[in-house]
Amino acid sequence: MEREASELNPLREGLRLERTPEPSVMVIFGASGDLTRRKLIPALYNLARERLIPPGFSVVGFARRDIGTERFRAAMLDGTNQFSRSRPVQPSIWETFAQGMYYLQSDFADADGYRRLGQLLDQIDRERGTVGRRIFYLATPPSTYSEIIRQLGASGLAHPTQANAWSRIIIEKPIGRDLVSAIELNRQVAEVFTEDQVYRIDHYLGKETVQNILVFRFANGIFEPIWNRRYVDHVQITVSESIGLEGRGRYYDETGALRDMVQNHLMQLLSLVAMEPPVAFDANAVRGEKVKVLQAIRPIQHADVARYAVRGQYGPGSVGAESVPGYRDEPGVSPNSSRETFVAMKLFVDNWRWADTPFYLRTGKRLPRRVSEIAIQFKRAPHLLFRQSAGELEPNVLVLRIQPNEGIALRAGAKIPGPTIRIRSINMDFLYGLSFGVEQPEAYERLLLDCMLGDSTLFTRSDEVEAAWRLLMPILETWEEDPATDFPNYAAGTWGPDAAHALIEEDGRRWRRL
Ligand code: BG6
Repeated sequence: MEREASELNPLREGLRLERTPEPSVMVIFGASGDLTRRKLIPALYNLARERLIPPGFSVVGFARRDIGTERFRAAMLDGTNQFSRSRPVQPSIWETFAQGMYYLQSDFADADGYRRLGQLLDQIDRERGTVGRRIFYLATPPSTYSEIIRQLGASGLAHPTQANAWSRIIIEKPIGRDLVSAIELNRQVAEVFTEDQVYRIDHYLGKETVQNILVFRFANGIFEPIWNRRYVDHVQITVSESIGLEGRGRYYDETGALRDMVQNHLMQLLSLVAMEPPVAFDANAVRGEKVKVLQAIRPIQHADVARYAVRGQYGPGSVGAESVPGYRDEPGVSPNSSRETFVAMKLFVDNWRWADTPFYLRTGKRLPRRVSEIAIQFKRAPHLLFRQSAGELEPNVLVLRIQPNEGIALRAGAKIPGPTIRIRSINMDFLYGLSFGVEQPEAYERLLLDCMLGDSTLFTRSDEVEAAWRLLMPILETWEEDPATDFPNYAAGTWGPDAAHALIEEDGRRWRRL
């Protein structure tokens, strides 16, 4: 038998996942939308290609558009050919995968659609051995969530009737658009599903490098002793994007960076970096520790918002060599929009580990580069032995690079070769690509697989979502009541408004140059 090149690669040793879920059906509501063809189907195809899901696994696309199964399959093949990390699609694998793909046209509010869905699922159970194991995926606009959840409850689909059957629901962000609506959505979900059936997805948690934050911290003995206020001067979390709105102008103009990125992705990164060691690597223990971090963050009072949070909006400029329009000229955006495309914040986690250690966060669109990283900036050495080189000494920094160039770097001072003591900072670098010689799976692959396996560790719990909203509400309210008068306040292709620099510089620190 021919062996795959990857099997011959010694760097891949020990990398095979030993977890294969039982066959199930994933019903994707809103399957004719972008998320399905760009992310979900390519992720499922790659799982099938790597034989991580069983042949009986099936997909039902449920959406309003009248396209039928054949056209749905063709559109999904097209999407996978464009967006899959492994391309081109291998016809024989696709053929087998697509045989388990169905389409059902219905309005989300039509009870008959759910009755027909029930019949189709029964048929799939008989033909493909899925035995009542169902995942309902909400890939629709959030305004439809309540109705779909209600219909799933009323039709009985939310609750399995046979032995060994289960049903789970995956909910895409945003979970609400503020604290009140998030609590209301969580309440509606809880009327139909129990919390252990609910998988709120934050795709950052599926990224290998984000999961590695936990492994790095808790599988090694040398980092925890210094992971605290005694040794850490401050932490910088940056999620910068060079892209603009990519056709999502209408959504973004109602949302903004605080809701789109900070409430979920940045808060998740902060929780993972700051959390205490959980008692076990399971859903309750890990999420319990994360939520404690969010609860320990010092609340920002309305009157103090300007001291702790900065907003920005990009004007025209150039990113790389390309000239790009300002935010207000993007399709779907109101020409005098006061929506923020950039946020910088300073937060304090008021507990024994972190008291008085600032966490600086920044994120934005149309910044010079796509970089996501967490930098743990250590305090200076307590005694300056090399006085003549004092000016050249930088404090140590540990950088967890989430993307691109995934890896970890430790910056330390080293002697420049020569007859005098001169010091320069050097990097000790670990690169995923080099060390493991393997392509990283997409975040959605890991998360969809975990849901099939019933593991919700990498999904957010209702109390986490609400704690993050609670923290941000004073900022949201203040900004909404008092629209910015200086927008646009940064040119596309720059690192955000001046006030973002002032936020950190007034503490005698600087944003890292990326
Ligand atoms: C999404 C946001 O959640 O994350 C987008 O809605 C953003 O606006 C994206 O572009 C960034 O994800 P990634 O994986 O490219 O860093």
